[in-house]
Amino acid sequence: MATASFSLQPLHKAFSIPNYPQLDSNSRFRPHLRYSSNGFPSIAIRASSTVTLEPDTISQQNQSAELFACPVCYEPLTRKGPLGLNLEAIYRSGFKCKKCKKSYSSKEIYLDLTVTAGLRDYSEDQPTRTELFRSPLVSFLYERGWRQNFSQGGFPGPDEEFKMAQDYFKSVEGGVLVDVSCGSGLFSRKFAKSGTYSGVVALDFSENMLRQSYDFIKRDAALLSSNLALVRADVSRLPFTSCSVDAVHAGAALHCWPSPSNAVAEITRILRSGGVFVGTTFLRYTRSTPGIIRPPRQRFLQNYNNLTEEEIEDLCTSCGLTNYSSKVQQSFIMFSAQKP
Ligand SMILES: C[S@@+](CC[C@H](N)C(=O)[O-])C[C@H]1O[C@@H](n2cnc3c(N)ncnc32)[C@H](O)[C@@H]1O
Repeated sequence: MATASFSLQPLHKAFSIPNYPQLDSNSRFRPHLRYSSNGFPSIAIRASSTVTLEPDTISQQNQSAELFACPVCYEPLTRKGPLGLNLEAIYRSGFKCKKCKKSYSSKEIYLDLTVTAGLRDYSEDQPTRTELFRSPLVSFLYERGWRQNFSQGGFPGPDEEFKMAQDYFKSVEGGVLVDVSCGSGLFSRKFAKSGTYSGVVALDFSENMLRQSYDFIKRDAALLSSNLALVRADVSRLPFTSCSVDAVHAGAALHCWPSPSNAVAEITRILRSGGVFVGTTFLRYTRSTPGIIRPPRQRFLQNYNNLTEEEIEDLCTSCGLTNYSSKVQQSFIMFSAQKP
């Protein structure tokens, strides 16, 4: 059983996993994974997702295990290792796209499902609003003061925001929730602890935010063994099969995304029919802001993509989402929309 003594240990020690060389973040070592193409039965999990499993793991079938798709071609990834969405199962598993022949595994404590995962020579920079949060300092400070400042813009605070989001997610209770752009995981932990979902994926592009997420998770033995996974991915290239996810949460994130339209399109793609998207962000201005002081888009904090209420609704509906609704308080907006 997980105990509080895990708290100061890295993942491989907490779970008595051998300290393989790939745990060194600078290492080029990739785990040696064997994938057999013969004799493994295919199990249809949802209409659009199929996964090939080892015979001895079929009895442990868990719907959340078959979510992951190749970020290059969106084909479902085959998985070798224990099933489940918890950190240990993901850490012990290797994933592979049979089409692209690309392998994915946990780097340190998160599963890296970016297109650039495992590349040795090529790297690319994202816009400042994304790069800022990759910094170790910003990631460290995020839950230690940075996020609290959002109250000045009208954010009600994590406890209230969580309650509001849970109300919107009522119709998808029991499903799989992806907390996109989770940062240090403050909402992912709340969703996982609530017991409302069969699995929670805490997803962010920032390696350091994911490290912070793990630092917070490992302090709580119950969370450490819950169905909570840490995944690195780009919101514009979500590594999930189409129509496989019940709920997507994106707290204080839309203004940080390189392309909100690509992100909302991706979120729509991965949501199943009836699935719910809930997001919060800082508005550029509200309906009650006098025209004379409304900042024009280009000149407003160019580093961020702050949209208006109308733009967010337009974006959601243009991607085919319905039942749009929102709550606004100063520059804070929480909006929700559903996949028909
Ligand atoms: C302001 S933080 C929000 C954290 C948390 N969800 C909250 O409610 O406080 C924005 C997050 O968006 C993430 N982000 C920025 N660009 C991203 C991208 N292209 N894909 C995924 N996440 C991204 C950042 O790494 C950062 O953690």
